Amino acid sequence: MTQLCVDPKQFATRLLHWQRSHGRHQLPWQENPTPYRVLVSEIMLQQTQVITVIPYFERWMERFPDIHSLARANEDEVLSLWQGLGYYSRARNLQKAARYVIDELGGEFPDTVDGMLKIPGVGRYTAGALISFAYNRPGPIVDGNVKRVFCRQFAIEGVPGTTVVDKKLWQLAELLTPTEDNRDFAQGLLDLGATLCTPKSPDCPRCPFSDSCIAHIEGRTAELPTPKPKKNTPTRQGHFLWIRSQDKLLLEKRPDTGIWASLWCLPEIPVKPQLAGARAFDSFRHTFSHYKLEAQVWQQESPDTDKSSMQWFSPRQLAEVGLPAPIRKLVEKQLTSQQVELAMID
Ligand code: ADE
Repeated sequence: MTQLCVDPKQFATRLLHWQRSHGRHQLPWQENPTPYRVLVSEIMLQQTQVITVIPYFERWMERFPDIHSLARANEDEVLSLWQGLGYYSRARNLQKAARYVIDELGGEFPDTVDGMLKIPGVGRYTAGALISFAYNRPGPIVDGNVKRVFCRQFAIEGVPGTTVVDKKLWQLAELLTPTEDNRDFAQGLLDLGATLCTPKSPDCPRCPFSDSCIAHIEGRTAELPTPKPKKNTPTRQGHFLWIRSQDKLLLEKRPDTGIWASLWCLPEIPVKPQLAGARAFDSFRHTFSHYKLEAQVWQQESPDTDKSSMQWFSPRQLAEVGLPAPIRKLVEKQLTSQQVELAMID
């Protein structure tokens, strides 16, 4: 069992006091924190910065104001509202979650952590966040921010994300979570990690825990949390096709698993085209969590095969479906320059 050098009550009191005067209070999901709004915000905030999420959250709530509108929506529309956020399985899981709550629970979210964990796409962090933010009841949370705060505060050694270290962090979260004021407590932990206890140059002089934080006292904030060993991300070559017919562009809907699942994309081929007529057209690079993609785009007159997953899109139709961010960037760049060329010919 982890030895605590701070009294949990005192930890909560200090954090709550700090959150109320120095924490964030104007985030859009803090207003009317229904379980649905909390779920959408928490899923968007996984792997994505607050500043990026805000406009996505607002557009989403305008289009899908409640769980019923999301459950009924067409998948292409859901994905189009997500485009640019990446990790698209999150969007599809959100819709699955909405359908689960309606079909299995009559539209009412569960009121316990264990109940929340049964919702598709909801893990331990999100379940705790839902209970804390939506119900203001005890729901322990451990995300990247909380890991950093705890590793420094209690000098926890070892790489966060490993089973042994995460077990300690969750035990701490359970011990420190108070029995009331859980909304502000959870927000306080996240705010402390995001605004003071930052990965590089933490602002220890402003921290309410500077007199009890072991990393600060021992001058070890740069070493804690223990960094992950650097991995070499492999590079993969990709080949995509640019095929136009009049003003339309040929796209292919990607399979529902794997990278860019269910998004519309330039057709991908396993090796560079063997047809004599294909010519190098453009290229792009993209970094995924596990590898780097170096992509070549080849222009062809027509597809080699006629697949049911392929469809022609006019520029107007392109605006209504989800494309991976680097593909959308390339398509928009190309269509804009081709329009300029056409205008010059006219
Ligand atoms: N990161 C994850 N959840 C958050 C929240 N509710 N507010 C701010 N940042 C967060």
